[in-house]
Amino acid sequence: MNTVFSGIQPSGLVHLGNLLGAINNWVKLSNENSKNYFCIVDLHSLTGLPNKNDLKKSINDTLKVLVASGINTKTSVIYTQSNLQEHAYLSWILSNFCQVGELQRMTQFKEKASSFGTHSGLLTYPILMASDILIHKANEVPVGDDQTQHLELTRNIAERFNTNYGEIFPIPEKTSGKSGARLMSLRHPENKMSKSSDDINGTIYFNDEKDNILKKFKSSVTDSENIVRYDPKNKPGISNLIEIYAAVNDKEISETEKEFENSQYGEFKIAVAETVIDYLDPIKKNFDDLTSDNLEDIVVSNLKSAKDSAQKTIIEVEEALGIS
Ligand code: TYM
Repeated sequence: MNTVFSGIQPSGLVHLGNLLGAINNWVKLSNENSKNYFCIVDLHSLTGLPNKNDLKKSINDTLKVLVASGINTKTSVIYTQSNLQEHAYLSWILSNFCQVGELQRMTQFKEKASSFGTHSGLLTYPILMASDILIHKANEVPVGDDQTQHLELTRNIAERFNTNYGEIFPIPEKTSGKSGARLMSLRHPENKMSKSSDDINGTIYFNDEKDNILKKFKSSVTDSENIVRYDPKNKPGISNLIEIYAAVNDKEISETEKEFENSQYGEFKIAVAETVIDYLDPIKKNFDDLTSDNLEDIVVSNLKSAKDSAQKTIIEVEEALGIS
């Protein structure tokens, strides 16, 4: 049976990139025959030095979105990283299997270090990420494309540990859906859609109002060709819209191109907006209906199961290392 792990930072509102690039696949996996751990990685968010109240709200809201999005909470363990100290403990151990130069070469480190200044948490972030995945011995990691480099590093760390101390860890694989693994900003399609974008009109947040979603898609940047054709290099804006439509409807890119081969951009933009509105609507409704009692039940039972799994791995790791 596959063991799946993935995480999301509670650092602001969940957006369409998170949903289509990752959470949508978590929902699917939660209905398959695998063991799933989905984690709100609050320790990772500390690298952005968040305000205490904002962080608390984000942790709670992110948990609510995961449940509201339809992850089957009977088959999947959803929990918050800081509740399981084994993540940080394993991270220290794994730091001995990773070179400083490798961390310095990470694209996300280079990008973030320039905007936040360079503290060591930003540098060692990918080791904590490796420990998140390896603490449950996950072999499948459903993430968006921006996490590819971190996944490669995780694989290297696991291999080095195994070579030195015995086959403890599986070598995890990255998985993504047919499309949606890299959504771009609607306003600046050369940049990734993100929570912290300078232009909020480029990002669709899970709780955006319908009118606002329509407005954002109508004003999305495209090109002058007026043919709905997928060509990310030369037509990044329209290719992004094709990607979004395909991901929401679980279609191939080529099917989407065919469906809109006779459409003008204006018409296509409205079709994409409508499909996104229909996709987000039940998530928003479920989100509003969730009470703190519902959440408390989920969190308490999940934590025990996550803790059991993590402690089992730690015992094996300690034995292999000859400590404790
Ligand atoms: P985070 O919080 O930035 O994003 C959560 C998930 O959403 C995906 N994603 C996107 N997918 C498509 N298009 C986009 N524009 C887009 N933006 C974000 C991300 O790829 C991710 O899958 N380092 C991770 C969190 C993490 C983690 C882990 C993930 C910590 N430990 C262990 C997997 C396994 C991060 O910052 O994701």
